[in-house]
Amino acid sequence: MNCPDPIRPAIRALEPSGITKVTALGLGNPDVLPLWFGETDLVTPPFIREAAIKALEDGRTFYTNARGILPLREAIAAFHKRTTGAEIAVDRITIPGAAMLAVTSALQMSCETGDNVVIVSPIWPNIFQAAKVVGAEPRLVRLNEDWNTGRWTLDMGKLFDACDERTKAFFIASPGNPTGWMLTADEQKHILEFARARGIAIIADEVYGTLIYDGAPHAPSFLTIAGEEDAVFAVNSFSKPWAMTGWRIGWLVHPRSVEPAAAAMAQCNNTGATHFVQYGALAALSPEGDAFRATLLERCRAGRDVVEDWIKGQNRIRWFKPEGAFYGFLHVDGLSDSLGFCQRMVKDPKVGIAPGWAFSLGDPRDDSYLRICFAQDDARLAEGLARLEGAIKQL
Ligand SMILES: Cc1ncc(COP(=O)(O)O)c(C=O)c1O
Repeated sequence: MNCPDPIRPAIRALEPSGITKVTALGLGNPDVLPLWFGETDLVTPPFIREAAIKALEDGRTFYTNARGILPLREAIAAFHKRTTGAEIAVDRITIPGAAMLAVTSALQMSCETGDNVVIVSPIWPNIFQAAKVVGAEPRLVRLNEDWNTGRWTLDMGKLFDACDERTKAFFIASPGNPTGWMLTADEQKHILEFARARGIAIIADEVYGTLIYDGAPHAPSFLTIAGEEDAVFAVNSFSKPWAMTGWRIGWLVHPRSVEPAAAAMAQCNNTGATHFVQYGALAALSPEGDAFRATLLERCRAGRDVVEDWIKGQNRIRWFKPEGAFYGFLHVDGLSDSLGFCQRMVKDPKVGIAPGWAFSLGDPRDDSYLRICFAQDDARLAEGLARLEGAIKQL
């Protein structure tokens, strides 16, 4: 008898991301120099680790409010106030677990099967995978390469033309991964007006919001222009600015009236973030945490300079110097199979790099790019670039 398949077709169709297809060949191999993930090589600073250890020793091992402990949500509201000036009510903040879960929750709140989400690309693959998981069609609108001005630019007409009656959300990461491109405050206003008029939610991914190089405390934030009932979902994370990628904790700011639903969803998705981890996160939001963020930003700036100097000596590599985040998205003349190239590099010369191919749904333009994370120690970064240079010479 032919039984129907109980697994949803959208789930059957999922494949490992282009980054996973590379890391699968060498993750954990100490000989492979890893520049492929979005994380610094620094261990989480001691004051954060000690706060979590103390919480464990104090017996903070129980369920908490599924939306997060109150002192942490209050500290997050204060963080928004001091970095962006936005006044965010504590009941608009939910800590579902990791930022990735905040992305998924925002998609679950806005999209259902058959809907679509318009995503500015190139974009970290987990985002369009998450759209597929909720049954939505990810529609990618690619930034334009403007080699004359040296910037990635967003064509608003293209962004708005990609929407139809089944468009339920925009997803925009600014600063972006992998490009480091940032939306301007004017562009944000324009997008908010369009979204309001069309009933489209905005999922504003601000996980790199404080990792910017122009001296401002924060990139332009949708939270400073949206009212508390605008359908804006702002995703944020402890992972990047405080070197906490393995802790799996982030947060979501949502419209005020969504609070009961956010609470119910937090129950279903994870029943809250890990209890003692929340105390580590609380320590991250202290003045000591602000000082650590500043140190990490300087390390990233130094890494960005190392890459920039190295590029000056290359004749086949160009980039748009990133305005934020900690990635070099490198355009390699003559490269058209970034996935195969990165897979070969894991074996020899043993450097882990993310293929440009991974950051879109088959757009051939992205296949000429490679992404490296430069939030690394100088010597390690220089060694990684030297290995990459050798491999490019063989191309
Ligand atoms: C744009 C973007 N959004 C969300 C995330 C998820 O962050 P987390 O690892 O804290 O869940 C990442 C991680 O790389 C990212 O680059």
